Amino acid sequence: MSKKITNSITQGVYVLTTIDAGCVVDAVSQVSFGDFPLISVAVNKQNYTNPKIKQHQKFALSILSEMVDPKIIETFGMHSSRDYDKFGQVKTTVVDDIAIIDEAIGYLYCEVVEQIDADTHTLFIGKMVKSKRFTEDVPMSYLFYQQNKDKLLASIAPKEQKAFVCTVCGYTYYGDELPEDYTCPLCGVSREFFKPKN
Ligand SMILES: Cc1cc2nc3c(=O)[nH]c(=O)nc-3n(C[C@H](O)[C@H](O)[C@H](O)COP(=O)(O)O)c2cc1C
Repeated sequence: MSKKITNSITQGVYVLTTIDAGCVVDAVSQVSFGDFPLISVAVNKQNYTNPKIKQHQKFALSILSEMVDPKIIETFGMHSSRDYDKFGQVKTTVVDDIAIIDEAIGYLYCEVVEQIDADTHTLFIGKMVKSKRFTEDVPMSYLFYQQNKDKLLASIAPKEQKAFVCTVCGYTYYGDELPEDYTCPLCGVSREFFKPKN
């Protein structure tokens, strides 16, 4: 079995936010199309954002474009709010208690109607109660991110910083050494599956 084939499932790239927390996600899909569409998002249980959504029962998804400043992906996707002030790095506007990324194409604002335990992740299903589109830019697909991430992130990664790449899904961890009990936040494999990036 090759887990890499899951990279071919077409997904977008978003900043998922709730009160005082947020992270980059791609595991988003629309699950119904009524007056208040249901939207699902799978959030790793290790993410700081996960218990915060459980606590506040609402979340927003800021949709990123292909032109987005890579610093936004680096800030929200490669750091944890446990020890990093993400909202101090990126311009946001608060809508009903939740920060929305100013540079996004637009956002979906959802109230959690169900949360399902899904192995490494929690699948949150939210009822979309509010949304706004800011621009007509092309949304970034996860494939576009995978194909361009080295170029995108090279422009912001400190040159002297070491990095480790997940050999299963391509996720890059920036830091001198992988933490002892580290698992890939995207595909869940253990640190043995990471190799140093040249
Ligand atoms: C392109 C990209 C896609 C990601 N997709 C997801 C995802 O779908 N679900 C998830 O839980 N984490 C995903 N992550 C990882 C989280 O964004 C990352 O672990 C983040 O640092 C967690 O921050 P937190 O601890 O402050 O919540 C993704 C990261 C990147 C860069």
